[in-house]
Amino acid sequence: MKQGLVLDKVVLLGRTLEEYRRCFALDVEKLRGKAILDVAAGVSSFCAEANRLGVNVTAFDSIYDLSGDEIRRRCEPDLDQVTQAIGNLKTYRWDFYQSPELLRRFRERAYRTFLDDYRSGQGTRYVSGRLPKLPFRDGQFDLTLVSYLLFVYEDQFDYEFHKRSLLEIMRVTRGEARLYPVVTFEARQSQYLDRLKADPDMRHLGFEQVQTDFEFLLNSNYYLRMTMTVRRDEGTAV
Ligand SMILES: C[S@@+](CC[C@H](N)C(=O)[O-])C[C@H]1O[C@@H](n2cnc3c(N)ncnc32)[C@H](O)[C@@H]1O
Repeated sequence: MKQGLVLDKVVLLGRTLEEYRRCFALDVEKLRGKAILDVAAGVSSFCAEANRLGVNVTAFDSIYDLSGDEIRRRCEPDLDQVTQAIGNLKTYRWDFYQSPELLRRFRERAYRTFLDDYRSGQGTRYVSGRLPKLPFRDGQFDLTLVSYLLFVYEDQFDYEFHKRSLLEIMRVTRGEARLYPVVTFEARQSQYLDRLKADPDMRHLGFEQVQTDFEFLLNSNYYLRMTMTVRRDEGTAV
C-alpha cells in the first residue's frame, strides 16, 4: 500500500528560484558568467527569475512547443489535484511551506512568472524537446539541473530511460549536473541509483550525494552531484 503521493502521469507544476536555490544549495551570485541548463524545467520560474538577475539559464522541456495558454490550461488542474492530495500525506515535512495553501501560492507564483517570460523567450531560452535526447552541443553548459523528473518518477520511467538521460545530460555538461530529489514519492531512495553507480557504461562518471538543509518530501535533504571523472575517449582521469 502506497503512503506517498500517487500520480498516474508527470504533473505540470513548477518551483520558484527560491525553491531551486534550496533544493540544489545554489549560490546565485556564483552562477553569473556561467551557462546553466534546466532540464524538464516545465512551468518553473527559475529560468525567468535567474535571467532577470543576469544569470544565463536555458530551460528545456517537452511542453515548450505549446502556447502559453495551452500550458496554463494543463497546469491549473494539476495544481488543484496535488494541493488537495498532499496535505494528508505522511511523506512530507511542512517546516518550509507551512500549509497546502502556502505551497499553492509558491506554485502559482512560479507558473505566472514563467508564463510572462515564456511569451518573449519561447524558442530562445525555452527550448522544446524530450529526454533522453538533448538538442545541445557537447559540453555546452557549466551546470545542468534536473528537478522533479528523474528518480522521483521511477514508476513511470524505466532504468534504460534514466541511464540514457543521464549519459545525455553529462554529454552536454562540462562542469557538473545536479539532480533533485533522488527519492521517490514514497520517500525512499530510488532503486536506480545503486544500479547506475555500478553500471560499466557509467564508469566515466562520478556520483556524490550532497547534503542540504531543505527537506519537504521526507529524506530528500540531499541532491545528486554528477561529474565526469574520466574522459570517455581517452580513458584517463581528469
Ligand atoms: C514536476 S515538473 C518539474 C518542473 C521543474 N523542474 C520544477 O521542479 O519546478 C516535471 C516536468 O518534466 C517534463 N517532462 C516530462 N517528461 C519529459 C521528457 N521526456 N523530456 C523533457 N521533459 C519532460 C514535464 O513536461 C514537466 O514540465
